[in-house]
Amino acid sequence: MKTAVRTNFDESVSAYDAYERRTGRFTALARLLRAEMRRRTDAFDAILDAGAGTGISTRVFADRAARPVALDLSHEMVRRVAVGERTQADFDSLPFTDGAFDAVAFTASLFLTPEPAAAAHEAARVLRPGGVVGAVAPLGWVRADGTDVFADLDRESRSPADAGAVRTALEDAFAVETGVWRFATTAEDVRQFHAIPAMAARLYPGLPTEARVERASELLAELEGTLEQRWRWVVGVTEE
Ligand SMILES: C[S@@+](CC[C@H](N)C(=O)[O-])C[C@H]1O[C@@H](n2cnc3c(N)ncnc32)[C@H](O)[C@@H]1O
Repeated sequence: MKTAVRTNFDESVSAYDAYERRTGRFTALARLLRAEMRRRTDAFDAILDAGAGTGISTRVFADRAARPVALDLSHEMVRRVAVGERTQADFDSLPFTDGAFDAVAFTASLFLTPEPAAAAHEAARVLRPGGVVGAVAPLGWVRADGTDVFADLDRESRSPADAGAVRTALEDAFAVETGVWRFATTAEDVRQFHAIPAMAARLYPGLPTEARVERASELLAELEGTLEQRWRWVVGVTEE
């Protein structure tokens, strides 16, 4: 499973950054998450961006943190990170000492491991007392009438875990607060999102890269109208 996730993101660099240039969605999520995290801690210097991708979220955290560290499973993604330290590793097993960080952020990443509980416990271990963890995980794309886009298309959008599993994993390891962020979005944004090989894999995990992206494009070709993308956020603190 993790090999597939890594390979899928290794192949996703240019489409991922093209989607971000179009929507700014991951920057927006990281900014909102940073604000929620900073509200709950007095020091925000050493921050681990866990599942940093190409560094979109790292840039946001680096703006307020003196010592950002970007970590990602995908070598191709993380080698693009332009700020702070960067390392290729699995956030289920972090290569850092206990209490090394003030904050650990999972911007759109924790739902991509089949074991979010392992990553949550690792985050708790590397945080100092009073340190803060934050995560955002997708709740899907919704039509104006509240129906899920993929229910209508007769196709599930599946990741190794989901927003519910992320929330449960963090609740077990931290005292958490949670909520939902909503973004008005377009059908073309949904198509561009699924032009990213790693995202098309949520729809057609068994297909080779090109075939998977093509099938996703066909599936979404007729989609239209105003849509909403929803994300669950969860922020927690360790005991002082
Ligand atoms: C949707 S991207 C988000 C990237 C970045 N945080 C952003 O906001 O643009 C998710 C990233 O999580 C990484 N990832 C998934 N599972 C991981 C794991 N077990 N350990 C480390 N990184 C992981 C992927 O390789 C991918 O780069």
